[in-house]
Amino acid sequence: MTTIPVSPASFHISDKIASSVYEGLMSSPKWLPSWLFYDAAGSHLFDQITHIPEYYVTRTEREILAQRAGEIVSRAAGEHALRLVELGAGSADKTRVLLSAAVERQDTVFYEPVDVSASALVEAQIRIEEEIPGVIVCPRVGDYTHDFDLDSTLPTERRLVLYIGSSIGNFEPGDSLMLLERVRAALDPGDCLLLGVDLVKDESVLQTAYDDAAGVTAAFNRNVLVRLNRELDADFRPETFAHRAVWNTSESRMEMHLVSDTKQTVWLSALDLRVTFEAGESIHTENSYKYRPGDAEALAAKAGFAHEATWTDERGWFAVCLARAV
Ligand code: AVJ
Repeated sequence: MTTIPVSPASFHISDKIASSVYEGLMSSPKWLPSWLFYDAAGSHLFDQITHIPEYYVTRTEREILAQRAGEIVSRAAGEHALRLVELGAGSADKTRVLLSAAVERQDTVFYEPVDVSASALVEAQIRIEEEIPGVIVCPRVGDYTHDFDLDSTLPTERRLVLYIGSSIGNFEPGDSLMLLERVRAALDPGDCLLLGVDLVKDESVLQTAYDDAAGVTAAFNRNVLVRLNRELDADFRPETFAHRAVWNTSESRMEMHLVSDTKQTVWLSALDLRVTFEAGESIHTENSYKYRPGDAEALAAKAGFAHEATWTDERGWFAVCLARAV
């Protein structure tokens, strides 16, 4: 017989959410997983974040991709036809420049976006097939952090897997290596990985990027409590938790926290759980790791990729690395 450790409550809503929230709020210090941000409201708020002046991340990466798309695509393809795969594609907004560059080299480009959100994939498919003739979208609903397999390719084809947007920044160092190893295992030698990573920079730049004047990031952070109220029948008062963004030098990461203004008790009905907060006690809601030049290349090398090229912006704030499966 196998015994599976369970918490004393009976979970009705979503076991994955319930068990991780239970674990995180019972821990000391308290934490919540950052994937919880992305319900419909949170995804919309993140989309707003990508447009605010302080959040340089999306803009800077888009600028690099727009400038280098032709080079990236031809470098990855060589003499082959390219097949693009994108992990956590979402709206696939920045992917367009790469797809456009690819259709210039070959008549038809297969594009496989992988995402947990089926609705985001359907929207992306409609928009992309309409906007970029020659692209055939083959959407895949799935959690690329767990299971990962790809359509097989013809000998004349090569894959280019896009893992852009600094999404890898949310993973702990060991987990990011595991993820890239899993990607490598799904590829054939010669296939490529394009990895977008945010770089270490002046603390004040990072600080304002994660604590913008308009308070959009604060709303994004607090939205996680709104979500728990709805999905786990909790009674958080989100306005009593302050948004904090802190740079952790030794860990090389931006951290987001929600700090309780007062001593208070929160009831999570679906978990049958009462959680007490001291005044000033925080819930750690996100890590966003920042890389030093060479870090991404070293990580890819450990996972079985050879370094091809790295492109950055003028200020050296963001890096886009191309690596080839060996
Ligand atoms: C979507 C993980 C790239 O870490 O910058 C934005 C999420 N958090 N503002 C990031 C986020 C706060 C974002 N990533």
